[in-house]
Amino acid sequence: MKKVVLAYSGGLDTSVICHMLASQGYEVYAVLVDLGQGEDLQPLADKAIRVGAQKAYVVDAVEEFLNEFVSPSIRSNAKYEGKYPLFTALSRPLIAKHLVRVAREVGADLVAHGSTGKGNDQVRFEVSVAALDPDIQVMAPVRDWKLTRDRAIEYAQKNEIPIPVTKKSPYSIDENIWGRSVECGPLENLMNEPPEDAYKLTCSHHLAPDEPEYITIGFSEGLPTSLNGEKLELRQIIERLTEIAGRHGIGRVDMIESRLVGIKSREIYEVPAAEVILVAHEDLESLTLERDTFHYKKKVEQDISELIYYGKWYSPLLESLFAFVERTQKPVTGEVTLKLYKGKAIPVKRSSPHSLYLEELATYEEKDQFSHEDARGFVNLWGLPLKIFSKVNRKED
Ligand code: ARG
Repeated sequence: MKKVVLAYSGGLDTSVICHMLASQGYEVYAVLVDLGQGEDLQPLADKAIRVGAQKAYVVDAVEEFLNEFVSPSIRSNAKYEGKYPLFTALSRPLIAKHLVRVAREVGADLVAHGSTGKGNDQVRFEVSVAALDPDIQVMAPVRDWKLTRDRAIEYAQKNEIPIPVTKKSPYSIDENIWGRSVECGPLENLMNEPPEDAYKLTCSHHLAPDEPEYITIGFSEGLPTSLNGEKLELRQIIERLTEIAGRHGIGRVDMIESRLVGIKSREIYEVPAAEVILVAHEDLESLTLERDTFHYKKKVEQDISELIYYGKWYSPLLESLFAFVERTQKPVTGEVTLKLYKGKAIPVKRSSPHSLYLEELATYEEKDQFSHEDARGFVNLWGLPLKIFSKVNRKED
């Protein structure tokens, strides 16, 4: 019997795929990966069995996701097109890793996913699987069998596959501990402001508290390690910040995004914790990284964000760029205090044992130790090339 390992979410599409594969004679191994989406996955695993899976695995991958995927992206200030903190893009290579692991365990050389042909996720799944095990084949039934939403519903009704209530929502949602995305429905018309019911983690700015709230995030070598002076695991910090920043309406993104497959799409993201953490991290870097490194890293960050978005997580280039980033993070230790107010997180205080800010150099007051004579000579030499160029060429103009 042919074996196939299916990335199963419990939703309509992957349930229909599971049933279809089973009725075509495949032995289906469903894999559900917990990435902190705040949902009990065991009932969904039971459902996979009911719709034909031979076996269903629930993988608790939250820690792995945070340590191996979210952490390097924090250190890289990774945001696609400067706005999207890549939580979905980061999750696909991890899911692919578990698909490949289970495939090896059960002796399957086929994996399947429920992504459409229009998105980035198909690329991320398939490129990741190919990079991890080039001998495994990938099926994408929604794309390759043209399984439209209507056909899926029809098939589900005919075959007594329960249609989840949430599927009545007009939105397509993806969520994990690092953020939540909302697409489709009324959002497809760019002239519609996102309806409030698209949001779950954040409140509207005008309903946010009228009093600002101050929070202090402590970092150790570029990763958050404390909140308001309390040592915490990254997971707890993210969970608490999701609640606190969400309450202040922070981390709402409404953007037009350039997909890898060429489409421009309208994306709504809710990323309260990511927004606050990345703002604070970058602020601490501005204090602790020497200028050339700080500036050079910006270019690397852009490349890293694109590689992640484009599904190249398991590429030697990304691995090398991460090595660079990791090397830069040694001094990124300290604390940043942010003021949270009506949708904004503004750094207002910062401190670090590796602070490169020297008050005696920066000050305009008596205690100033900056060498003004050096400045004079420096400016002369800095401007010398332009001065010469001007002298030589002025006569021609
Ligand atoms: N546009 C984002 C990305 O490509 C989010 C995709 C959400 N995925 C989903 N299957 N709903 O990463």
